[in-house]
Amino acid sequence: GNLPPFNNEAMVDFTRADHRAAFPKTIAEVRKQLGKTYPLFINGKEVKTGDTIPSVNPNQPSETVGVVCQAGTKEVGDAIAAAKGAFPAWRDTDIKVRAEYLVKAAAVARRRIFELSAWQVLEIGKQWDQAYADVCEAIDFLEYYAREMITLGSPKRIGHAPGELNHYFYEPKGVAAVISPWNFPLAISMGMVSAAIVAGNCVVFKPSGLTSVIGYHIVELFREVGLPDGVFNYTPGRGSVMGDYLVDSPDISLIAFTGSMEVGLRIIERAAKVYPGQENVKKIVCEMGGKNAIIIDDDADLDEAVPHVLYSAFGFQGQKCSACSRVIVLDAVYDKFVERLVSMAQATLVGPSEDPAHYMGAVADDKAMKTIKEYAEIGKKEGHVLYESKVPSDSGYYVPMTIIGGIKPEHRIAQEEIFGPVLAVMRAKDFDQAIAWANSTKFALTGGVFSRSPEHLAQARKEFRVGNLYLNRNNTGALVGRQPFGGSKMSGVGTKAGGHDYLLHFMDPRVVTENT
Ligand code: NAD
Ligand code: ALA
Repeated sequence: GNLPPFNNEAMVDFTRADHRAAFPKTIAEVRKQLGKTYPLFINGKEVKTGDTIPSVNPNQPSETVGVVCQAGTKEVGDAIAAAKGAFPAWRDTDIKVRAEYLVKAAAVARRRIFELSAWQVLEIGKQWDQAYADVCEAIDFLEYYAREMITLGSPKRIGHAPGELNHYFYEPKGVAAVISPWNFPLAISMGMVSAAIVAGNCVVFKPSGLTSVIGYHIVELFREVGLPDGVFNYTPGRGSVMGDYLVDSPDISLIAFTGSMEVGLRIIERAAKVYPGQENVKKIVCEMGGKNAIIIDDDADLDEAVPHVLYSAFGFQGQKCSACSRVIVLDAVYDKFVERLVSMAQATLVGPSEDPAHYMGAVADDKAMKTIKEYAEIGKKEGHVLYESKVPSDSGYYVPMTIIGGIKPEHRIAQEEIFGPVLAVMRAKDFDQAIAWANSTKFALTGGVFSRSPEHLAQARKEFRVGNLYLNRNNTGALVGRQPFGGSKMSGVGTKAGGHDYLLHFMDPRVVTENT
């Protein structure tokens, strides 16, 4: 039958005792399952390899969440062949049937929502609400793209010339490589995978090495709903060993990547080369980093601005491509804003994410910890420390919540993506200068403005050039169907995940004209 209209999945509600109780209970249950070995999944079969890597809890690295088999080039080749073999039948499968698999997978994820959230708390250190929001977003992508594909699926008649019948319709591209980051480990992976699949492509999916156990849950969701063999293949592996091989393969027609600018640009460059036997020009959907700013106007409501900036900068330890890493404050309110921001920061605690008393937890891994600490040191030389939190003395990958003042646009911490809890505070002389500074990086992903001036809000709409601009609210947590997400400049190629035109990137349009 017809699907009901799309609605975003409801967020967790901690006023409900059952929701509060579900987290500690489910985390304890998931903990009993830690340490298992996870195989690859190719052509409907589990495949074990001798090369494995452990995935650990960043808050407590001695805790191994799972041991993950790594695909080498042989396994990636097998997965591409399986996807290629499955493609013709999947391409010709009725669109409503394809969409139905997504809706069924969404129902399984909904049933397992606390468990899928608990895995995120343990594997990548998300706070309860952040983990639950990620699973909600994954469900939203499944439900939304299912509906979008049904809408796009029927051929449209175009043109009105007498004696001529024109039909415009879409076909999938073929085998899609989906390469995802660790920071929205279910949502972003599921978004790219489900878009590719519902459009009729077959997928070779490479999750991030830091969240491959969460990645394996996509195998479980699609297995439970009986997705045909070869349509979805799971090949975790070391980017350095199998990344180029996957990208270079002549049998790949589409690459959907979300991650850093460095890896994204490398993929774009490599994918341009055509190898013997290659039939298609590779299409690249590439979503990359950000250096996002929030402007605080001189008439901003600081009761709103302060908590929203704190959350945008330090939610999930600042490890969101959307996170605020620069706050540009107009001179007239700089001192007042900084005083209030620092006093709110002082009231927060850093510690294991599974305890909701902690506003911030550990960062992703030891490499991230080292880089973030280096940037904090650079920032301390470029400006001055306004706040640096304490961190637990345990062995987790903790870095302090850090706020640095006196930063100018030419400073490194005003230009380079840090991807951690380091916030640069900049003092601007007026709103024009604030907008100019906001636009002064190579990125253009998210941005925010707190202002009561209609003129300034109108100016920001026009001149603050980012993919997602938020007025008088936080600048993270884009919702599927409401804030289609993605940036331009070096933040991405201009695609919008969770938007009406996203699926078009996964297909080729065709036109058939009949002389009648
Ligand atoms: P990353 O670029 O290091 O890794 C992303 C993926 O690419 C991983 O699966 C990795 O294993 C793989 N990879 C590494 N080398 C490869 C190669 N040579 N060929 C193919 N694949 C390779 O990024 P990350 O650390 O996982 O994620 C953080 C980054 O992602 C940040 O820059 C953040 O801003 C960005 N991000 C962007 C968005 C967005 O929508 N624009 C969303 C989330 C994260
Ligand atoms: N979609 C994520 C957000 O908006 C990245 O925070």
